[in-house]
Amino acid sequence: MLIAGNWKMNTDVPAGRALARNVAAGLDRSDADFSEVDVAVCPPFTHLQAVGEALDGSSVALGAQDVHAEEEGAYTSDISASMLTSIGCTYAIVGHSERRQYYDESDAEVNAKVVQARAHGLVPIVCVGETLEHRRSGDAESVVRSQLEGALDGVDVPRADALVVAYEPVWAIGTGESATPTQAQDMHAVVRSDLAGRYGEDLAAEVALLYGGSMKPHNAAELLGQPDVDGGLIGSASLKAESFVAIAEHATEA
Ligand code: PGA
Repeated sequence: MLIAGNWKMNTDVPAGRALARNVAAGLDRSDADFSEVDVAVCPPFTHLQAVGEALDGSSVALGAQDVHAEEEGAYTSDISASMLTSIGCTYAIVGHSERRQYYDESDAEVNAKVVQARAHGLVPIVCVGETLEHRRSGDAESVVRSQLEGALDGVDVPRADALVVAYEPVWAIGTGESATPTQAQDMHAVVRSDLAGRYGEDLAAEVALLYGGSMKPHNAAELLGQPDVDGGLIGSASLKAESFVAIAEHATEA
């Protein structure tokens, strides 16, 4: 299980540092057994140093919300994979629907970012998910399959823990309306079978498939209880240590 918090463009640095400390302290205080649950937070780039320091000595991993597709160069404002590893990042979210929507990020760009992340030993959290229109027109599965094809084309995955896929239906993100456990499970099974075709059954069985889209403490147990749901990518509920830790506690029971 992996529970990852996507803070998006929220908190300033002092608030982010406090949030990270509270998450680490909350996990510490909890009676739950987190030995089978990895926890990560993905703050804004400006926070990585401070949050990394705040998490020092804890088991909470650090992730970034994006990574650039090129090694280095004249890309004003962008952040490279080696910059992220040099500051202690383990994960990088890639292809989030907000990047696809607001920056027209294409599958080819997502693919290049995945390749770059992998080349530096960063674990990409590859986001896929259909819009409401796609779901209503019955195209959800084909959209997700084609996003996977685009993102993972030619990507070598030597070990299951080198890749994470997050299924995030766009209509569930930030809306308070999550997918039903059955909708999540059905699409996760599609993702799993796609990965099995690409990397073999054994590896696919071990890749963490996260559900994202309005996962909260009240619906986490049911979503995380689905056989192909191996964790969550948590947006707004990751901005409060209490709710984020509560979701991580549900993961220990799933
Ligand atoms: P949400 O965001 O939990 O606020 O819906 C999830 C995400 O976008 O990763």
